[in-house]
Amino acid sequence: MIGYGELDMVCASAPAKVYFFGEHSVVYGKPAIAAAISLRTNVTVHSAPPSSHIYVNAPKRTSLERTPYVREVVMMLSKQYDIPTSGYWIDVQSEIPKAAGIGSSAALTVATIGAISSYFDIKLEPVEIASMGHAVERAVQGSASPTDTWISTFGGVYRIPERRRLSISEFIFVIGDTQETSSTKKLVGAVKTLKDNYPSIIGPLMDAMGALSDYGETLLVNGKLEEVGKLMNLNNSLLESLGVGTDALHKFVSVAISAGALGAKITGAGGGGCMVALSPSKDVAKNIANALEKCGGEVYVVKSTDIGLRLEV
Ligand code: PMV
Repeated sequence: MIGYGELDMVCASAPAKVYFFGEHSVVYGKPAIAAAISLRTNVTVHSAPPSSHIYVNAPKRTSLERTPYVREVVMMLSKQYDIPTSGYWIDVQSEIPKAAGIGSSAALTVATIGAISSYFDIKLEPVEIASMGHAVERAVQGSASPTDTWISTFGGVYRIPERRRLSISEFIFVIGDTQETSSTKKLVGAVKTLKDNYPSIIGPLMDAMGALSDYGETLLVNGKLEEVGKLMNLNNSLLESLGVGTDALHKFVSVAISAGALGAKITGAGGGGCMVALSPSKDVAKNIANALEKCGGEVYVVKSTDIGLRLEV
């Protein structure tokens, strides 16, 4: 273990994600395709006097108790690897909007595991980090799919549940955050009720969403982005049929398409939060962003990224 004073600080960062296809249906075992994006959360561990309580700057100074994901990481690491629960401070800086369906909690969790484990010189394999991250999300939220923490740890574009990394080039996305807050747990519950009440309608709808990932994977790998966009639009209509759309999301999606997006859809649980548009170029991405800004959303032009969890120097 590295002692106090030997290492002043360690910083790790991890990315957010969007779904190309398959949120909600992935809960029922259907395939989904998700991509890490270039919005990141940075977590820095600083040395502090050995007996001082851990506090978290996120970005305002607060206690560990008030930052549940960080607290849970500290607790799990201390149980499993005997690291101290005092004597260091944690800074969090994030570009990722919170509770908006693009994996802010996974990025925070994964970057925190990376920064603390590295500060104390604990060698964790990426698979162990993703799995601990998932356990942390489950402990804090009650339920969580492993998708977000996996993508945040490894970066890239993956087919879930097989965790098959797709070797494809970089994409430009425009993300529109409606700034309506949503609860993944509530929405997953509402979809389950719908499915329980109308299995012969919702079952085939889930199958169709799975098929979108199957077709989408081939199209992505072959660079057929116009077709990918069409399937994203189709996926959005199916998500709306499940009742996870909102007026704002609907508007953002149609505005993005009118401004030149190849396709656009809700990303994540829906019920508010973010939509994602696939752009054919940087210039069109600017047009889409301008159009979405006029709708009153917070807008991010991002790229897909192969960079998952990494230590910053
Ligand atoms: O909103 P997010 O980023 O938590 O994504 C939720 C995705 C769901 O498929 C709706 C739920 C899940 O656990 O996979």
